[in-house]
Amino acid sequence: MKRPPLFERFNALQKHIPWISILEKPTPVRQLTNLQKVLKTKEALWVKLDNLTSKAYGGNKVRKLEFLLADALHQDKHTIVTMGGLGTNHGLATTIHGRTQNIHTRIYIEDQPLTPYVLQNLKLMYYYGAELIYTKTRWRTALRFNLFDRLRWRGVYWLPTGGSTPVGVLGYLNAVFELRNQIQAGLLPEPRLIFVAAGSVGTISGIELGLQLTGLNSRVIGIQVTSNPRFNQDRVKNLVHKTLRLLTPGIEVEKIHYEPRFELSNEFLGRGYGYPTKSGNEALEMALEFEQLHLDPTYTAKTFAGVIDYLRKGKQGPILYWHTLNSVDLSDVASQVDYQDLPSPFHQFFDGSSLGCTSG
Ligand SMILES: Cc1ncc(COP(=O)(O)O)c(C=O)c1O
Repeated sequence: MKRPPLFERFNALQKHIPWISILEKPTPVRQLTNLQKVLKTKEALWVKLDNLTSKAYGGNKVRKLEFLLADALHQDKHTIVTMGGLGTNHGLATTIHGRTQNIHTRIYIEDQPLTPYVLQNLKLMYYYGAELIYTKTRWRTALRFNLFDRLRWRGVYWLPTGGSTPVGVLGYLNAVFELRNQIQAGLLPEPRLIFVAAGSVGTISGIELGLQLTGLNSRVIGIQVTSNPRFNQDRVKNLVHKTLRLLTPGIEVEKIHYEPRFELSNEFLGRGYGYPTKSGNEALEMALEFEQLHLDPTYTAKTFAGVIDYLRKGKQGPILYWHTLNSVDLSDVASQVDYQDLPSPFHQFFDGSSLGCTSG
């Protein structure tokens, strides 16, 4: 896109906020009419297809990276240090899109339940040039990220889990302006509720702030996919406030009175991050069978389970499910990678010597 919809609305922001274009065009919206019939609901169910944010690697991270990579370049930083689980989508997206901007990605990797998808992402991060550092646990990652490596690695861009900093949040703030344009163009009705996966809560924070600034009456519900207590209501409010501050002096934020309207639900989390649930599996199968929409057990299936549950309870729409999963198939690329080329601490996950690991 030539200009983000956020800058179209607030022209002055483009002088203050670095941005690079990755999305070619607004992501499409589609009504899920087959599922409406199957669920026997009169309420309209729509999806916003953020799986299509990029042909190289899509999903929700791309929107954050339009602002994060630009911010790193603006600070003249060409290495990003970040973190995630063994199959982190955020790590992979940062590696792939960072590369096109000449930015190198270094990732602390901690345990998470092993699945073929997780192992594929791990191989792909290696393939696309990420420097992978196995830290095993979150607290070891935190120690290195916040303390030891901070002191010795200068000139790098420190990026916390999921890219959920105020700068990253701008991606979904911008996305709501895109959605508002689509609503105004009559492409979909104004949703009563928006459902989205909530992990490190950057995505929901951007949507929450975007709803306030666009004046849309929709409310957002984040379906929690991690039991990490840090990613709670306060964290969303905090991120919203910090992101608002980033918008000065481009817009007069002091005139904006932020009233929290979002909700976070842990009803569909199950045993924890990365563990499939029964309702998630059902949602995954239904979305595929009736709408050819591919979900994953960790994020999107649990979120869609929330949507199905809501509609089954006969509650009011229109509903927008915001789809956040990449759909570019990189399995052929991953199959070219020999796991033995990865740093040796990762071999255990491929050769069967690891008993499977947990985190979250
Ligand atoms: C596919 C997918 N959906 C949703 C999320 C959650 O986004 P956030 O971390 O901004 O809450 C993630 C985070 O990794 C993700 O990979």
